[in-house]
Amino acid sequence: TVERTLVLVKPDGVRRGLSGEVLRRIEAKGYTLAAVELVQATPELLERHYAEHVDKPFFRALVDFMLSGPTLAVVAEGNRVIEGFRSLAGATDPTTAAPGTIRGDLGRAWDGPVMQNIVHGSDSPESASREIGLWFPAL
Ligand code: CMP
Repeated sequence: TVERTLVLVKPDGVRRGLSGEVLRRIEAKGYTLAAVELVQATPELLERHYAEHVDKPFFRALVDFMLSGPTLAVVAEGNRVIEGFRSLAGATDPTTAAPGTIRGDLGRAWDGPVMQNIVHGSDSPESASREIGLWFPAL
């Protein structure tokens, strides 16, 4: 089943010069890039994107982190890409993410209030279509 997913290279990844490495891994796996744009997020966009986390203790810090610099927003396309990109990304926490994954290879252990884990990937078809609509209103 050909799907689309929203991938974000978060501000830590962009700052560290990892945008190309993330795109390379997506393309090496055989997925195609349907859209790529460097975006400075706004509080309004992030409150909608992270709607399920608004009540979490780390929400405010998460928004501040996501406002700290530009994010590379990517729509990747391919067979089962939603599950496939989450597999490429690895576990949320870079400390436990498996080597071979983006977070396992490139994520840094971090003891601040928010996990700086380089990438985001949509977790379901419903999330993907909602998130693509937020970051790429023209698609
Ligand atoms: P992401 O997959 O984009 O979704 C929510 C983000 O919140 C997550 O990546 C991390 O950056 C951050 N996050 C998730 N869980 C925690 C946690 N327990 N403590 C701090 N930050 C978290």
